[in-house]
Amino acid sequence: NKGKYMHYMQKEIHEQPESLTTTMRLIRGGACKSKTVLLRGLKDHLKTIRRSRRIVFVGCGTSYNAALASRPIVEELSGVPVTMEVASDLVDRQGPIYREDTAVFVSQSGETADTLQALDYALENGALCVGITNTVGSALARKTHCGVHIKAGCEIGVASTKASNWHFAYTSQIVVMAMLALAVGGDMISNETRREAIIDGLLDLPSKVKAVLKLDEEMKDLAELLISEQSLLVFGRGYNYATALEGALKVKEVALMHSEGILAGEMKHGPQPSNCFSCLSYLFHKHLFCCSKQQSVIQQLQARKGRLIVMCTKGDSASVSVGGSCRVIEVPHVEDCLQPVLNVIPLQLLAYHLTVLRGHNVAQTRNLAKSVTTQ
Ligand code: BG6
Repeated sequence: NKGKYMHYMQKEIHEQPESLTTTMRLIRGGACKSKTVLLRGLKDHLKTIRRSRRIVFVGCGTSYNAALASRPIVEELSGVPVTMEVASDLVDRQGPIYREDTAVFVSQSGETADTLQALDYALENGALCVGITNTVGSALARKTHCGVHIKAGCEIGVASTKASNWHFAYTSQIVVMAMLALAVGGDMISNETRREAIIDGLLDLPSKVKAVLKLDEEMKDLAELLISEQSLLVFGRGYNYATALEGALKVKEVALMHSEGILAGEMKHGPQPSNCFSCLSYLFHKHLFCCSKQQSVIQQLQARKGRLIVMCTKGDSASVSVGGSCRVIEVPHVEDCLQPVLNVIPLQLLAYHLTVLRGHNVAQTRNLAKSVTTQ
């Protein structure tokens, strides 16, 4: 039932405060009092994960992006190096996977063929295989040694919308992986302050997501401005590189507009924003915000006369020298590793409104299936 919403995609974007609260119950179960995270599905394997030579994140599409967003905090709290693998590429290359590795498979559906094939490959190579999925009883949940269920919500039939779950799955996946980082990091004294700040940040997320959702009308206005553009480049760095990739993926997938997520540090090494009509730049992370490199990316984009939209945390816009013509979108501030959860939401809204305004079918996007069970 779509209730007051026009489309399931819209409804699911707006339901994220609830889906995150559901996901967060994992930390409420007694865990919150002591400011630790209890992931029952992982507790017997935490020692092995901590002792791994490396953690390898494997996924496709949105799930890959969520893992990428979580990589820095997993590295920071666990001290274990994390590498990223697009599932199909790992299989194509038969990339090295060792018994001493922990391979973490991220899949909303738990049925994506590429991810499952990579899982079989990692199992054959003797790695500890951890699953992060939304779907209890899925092939991924059955085949991995251990894992976490996201509990973001139930799926809706494929015919109704490809969108079901996959918008809020991204935000819930990041939350679960932050919790994974906390669990693997354990109770090291040196991490105590950081750990507590993250847990507080997690508990604050649903209300902050609600605040971001109030940007709906503003994002609709922006979509009207961008409706006939040919391309949208999304720049981000640090924690928000993944946001740039995920935002661009949503615009490509649903609004069928060319879009690319670009690491802001690569700006000088190829991208030619002057050929693009719109550029969206990210400045969320507090210390990235102060970083002169990020400021210089903005200046370069302005010099190339792309239409520039800057997103930053509340109160920070005054200190960004973006010039009068630049649109600034402000989101609430949260602990850096959780900022991607808030930052992706305006882009989800933008993708939704662009889809509607460009006259595409939101419920059944061209060439998309809810889970891709072929290779
Ligand atoms: C792709 C979808 O086919 O599969 C993406 O278009 C999705 O939206 C990706 O993120 C991976 O799906 P899953 O279910 O493995 O997370």
